[in-house]
Amino acid sequence: MTSEQLRKKYLEFFAEKGHAVIPSASLVPENDPSVLFTTAGMHPLVPFLMGEKHPAGQRLVNFQKCVRTGDIDCVGDQWHLTFFEMLGNWSLGDYGKKEALEWSYEFLTSKKWLGIPVEKLAVTVFAGDPPSLKLRGASAPFDREAFNIWQGLGIPEAKIFKYGKKENWWGPAGAAGPCGPDSEMFYVTAKPACGPDCQPACSCGKYVEIWNDVFMEYNKTASGKFEPLAQKNVDTGMGVERTVSVLNGYQDNYQELIKPLVDKIEELAGKKYEGEFVRSMRIIADHLRAATFIMGDDLGIAPSNVDQGYVVRKLIRRAIRHGRMIGIQDNFTHKIGQAVMSAMGDVYPELIKNKEFVLANFKTEEDKFTKTLQAGLKEFHKSTENTKVQSLTPSPSPVLRERGTGRGRKTQKHTTELSGLATFNLFQTYGFPLELTKEMAYEKGFSVDEPGFNQEFKKHQELSRTAAAGKFKGGLGEQTEQTIKYHTATHLLHAALRQVLGDHVFQRGSNITDERLRFDFSHGAKMSAEQKAAVEKIVNQLIDDDLPVNFVELPVAEAKKKGAIGVFADKYGEQVKVYSIGDYSREICGGPHVARTGVLGHFKIIKEEASSAGVRRIKAILQ
Ligand code: ALA
Repeated sequence: MTSEQLRKKYLEFFAEKGHAVIPSASLVPENDPSVLFTTAGMHPLVPFLMGEKHPAGQRLVNFQKCVRTGDIDCVGDQWHLTFFEMLGNWSLGDYGKKEALEWSYEFLTSKKWLGIPVEKLAVTVFAGDPPSLKLRGASAPFDREAFNIWQGLGIPEAKIFKYGKKENWWGPAGAAGPCGPDSEMFYVTAKPACGPDCQPACSCGKYVEIWNDVFMEYNKTASGKFEPLAQKNVDTGMGVERTVSVLNGYQDNYQELIKPLVDKIEELAGKKYEGEFVRSMRIIADHLRAATFIMGDDLGIAPSNVDQGYVVRKLIRRAIRHGRMIGIQDNFTHKIGQAVMSAMGDVYPELIKNKEFVLANFKTEEDKFTKTLQAGLKEFHKSTENTKVQSLTPSPSPVLRERGTGRGRKTQKHTTELSGLATFNLFQTYGFPLELTKEMAYEKGFSVDEPGFNQEFKKHQELSRTAAAGKFKGGLGEQTEQTIKYHTATHLLHAALRQVLGDHVFQRGSNITDERLRFDFSHGAKMSAEQKAAVEKIVNQLIDDDLPVNFVELPVAEAKKKGAIGVFADKYGEQVKVYSIGDYSREICGGPHVARTGVLGHFKIIKEEASSAGVRRIKAILQ
């Protein structure tokens, strides 16, 4: 079974059941600031799951390109990928649980379709919440219906596992939105059980999850309550790579469409895909495939220090380091990018369309990082030379234990942490993303002071923003009234551009003098005269409305939830300052700003031009 055959069969099966085939959406969500990437086929469908009418009807099916960066640390094992393809079928208030599960079963087991023997399947259902959650209106009951349906289909009780919300509940990545219990289907591999308690949730690799049927029956409110949705939906997702692998009896995902990448890596490194090289080769193949898809998206994301661009940077740089580790000394990332295009360009023609952009960015990024990599590694070793062994502690990440390299990670000695300042220095001077330094630290058996790093990052961010706003030439005294006005106008411009051009617009750079503002932002095309006029009109209206400018300090998660845009330095915990202008703009920023927009004067765009690939530049003045 090839990916191509699997996609075809899946679409055909659900088309026979009355589903309309819809295209794979962009990897960069267009109307959802809560996530950087499309993480599942349902993501672009959220408005329709919430009740809006979909033009193609109530039964939909597709394959969707997805990126999940949350799994990045697991990459290197057999099954985790950051980029993957997902097959999905949806009922938008049409059929329910019974049809969904019966069709899943039919597709998996019927000889006409995948023909998996029933003994090879195990499933899970939602066990229900503990009574304590009931009080808060945040509980949902055991999914007896799903249990009964599986039993009726012939899955023995011993193969129907019950789990709580952690395993069997699905919602979009944002905190609020449509969600519900799910039922997952696993392929039981020939691998021996890891112990008497081996089961789907233990992730030892015996059970490989291949499909998930979500019954989207609830809307999670911002306060954490689950309200029944007026429209009950079904949302399913099947992993293409995993399914193809288990159907063919492969031992991991790095076969078939990813195989040519591994072949190329073997050739470049002069090493075989075996033993100590396996993990690095997997990381390189996975990360560069994901980077190719993100850069090759029609929204044209280039490596940078913010948002999606920073993810691409991290993926490429980690792959480069692993490349050097296994002996690839020359620039190679573009070669792997090319292999991705050859393997997948027929299904995802945007990769071919954007080929030059992708390859050029691989080359530039690798040139840039190669320049600092050696010096950075030296600096890293110097910073860590004198750290002392403190105690014996287990490895901090279960993933590390799964690597199976036989290096005894479980009992590795942990020394003192690498300081936040040293880690930030590696980031700032040598371009080492935090995760890269963390990984190198783990390999040596110690950890990194992450909160310390975040503090340094935040300090610097505020300083550089202030400097960019022309305020720090000789200290705060030189921050003028005019530069502050331009700074506030920049926020209005940013928000107005997003309104007029779309939510793919993000700040890529800002520079302010007493005479003008200059703003770089992600956008692939020249702005039309109408678009420029519309942006000016909005900004001037916001100025006329004399809106108040305020800020609050919030944890990052809270800021994201409120839809604030800007640089998020860290996933959890860290407090950021969020400036809002009326209800119109919310942005993470160090300030300062004017108190009300009325003082800004008349806003005028004097130039709009290309800044670099996929990035436009506006110069504007206040009159
Ligand atoms: N959206 C569901 C998932 O990704 C199907 O698992």
